[in-house]
Amino acid sequence: YFLCVHKQRNRTMIASIVCGGAGYIGSHTVYELIERGHSVVVVDSLIKGHKAAIHNEAKFYLGDIRDEEFMDRVFRENQIDAVIDFAAFSLVGESVNEPFKYYENNVYGTLKLLEAMERADVKKIVFSSTAATYGEPENDIIVESDKTNPTNPYGETKLTVEKMLKWADNAYGIKFVALRYFNAAGAHISGKIGEDHSPETHLIPIILQTALGQREKMFIFGDDYDTPDGTCVRDYIHVTDLADAHIKALEKLFKTNESGIYNLGNGKGFSVKEVIEKAKKVTGKDFKVEIEARRSGDPSTLIASSEKAIKELGWKPKFNTLDKIIETAWNWHKDHKNGYED
Ligand code: UFG
Repeated sequence: YFLCVHKQRNRTMIASIVCGGAGYIGSHTVYELIERGHSVVVVDSLIKGHKAAIHNEAKFYLGDIRDEEFMDRVFRENQIDAVIDFAAFSLVGESVNEPFKYYENNVYGTLKLLEAMERADVKKIVFSSTAATYGEPENDIIVESDKTNPTNPYGETKLTVEKMLKWADNAYGIKFVALRYFNAAGAHISGKIGEDHSPETHLIPIILQTALGQREKMFIFGDDYDTPDGTCVRDYIHVTDLADAHIKALEKLFKTNESGIYNLGNGKGFSVKEVIEKAKKVTGKDFKVEIEARRSGDPSTLIASSEKAIKELGWKPKFNTLDKIIETAWNWHKDHKNGYED
């Protein structure tokens, strides 16, 4: 622990490579790392990420985690203690239509990254996983030991990597923490970075774009689910709270050298209709909402138990109300109507 981690004025400074550090959750994690005095090297292909999302104190390498020479150079030119891996495709619908694209980037990409880590003798990784590893849940509140049976290739590729990590630990002693996020939402409190996907498919950004008049109306995908108001229920978790969990996971890896898998959510579900109502209040805007057919592959309810993360990582979500989540997202969206192009 003390051998590979540098001590800096009573604080433990960890040097990490953040793959996908220009993306939504990655960029927020980079901000938190830097705010807490850690040193960061961002690796991003910018296929999905945004250069403007990268904190100016992070060292940036443009390239692909599948490129061996490139990754060897990044490890060679920097003294690295750990890797945080966000680099992946994450659109559920697209993954159903183009599964190979997801296996190529998410599974093969992470394999190449792990090989590069092994060559560089870096033995710790925090990995972005997802609630989509569970598929249709067995219980109202999902715990990590529940059955994993993904209903789409996106979730399947993430589950495949979790299993690969287990065997990499077994064979090479690469210790990992896989974090299964529920619905990431919100934006940095400073208003400097936020959510900008293209195409946008996520509920809260779509609601806010409609509130801004950028969309004439929005659609609710199905109101005939077996839920209190018939619309899907999700557990929304603020992106800065997710970022915080990555740092706690890193710290735990250095303290205990033990691998683990953790859910990250607030443990509270909100229906699509409830989110829309709340957003109308926060923004003070009314807009047109229509009911559409169900979107294929959507489970009716996804709510996390994060007890394990709370207990073992010492994690505690701070932006834990839907108001705060929507407020920070709104703050970003109204100032960045065209995302990072503004
Ligand atoms: N929804 C609408 N209208 C829209 C967009 C979304 O009604 O215009 C609904 C969806 O049907 C769903 C809910 O809002 O019921 C949330 O949808 P999102 O697309 O925002 O999020 P998902 O729950 O589908 O997906 C999220 C992450 C995925 C992850 C998944 C885990 O975005 O990466 O959680 O199940 F895989």
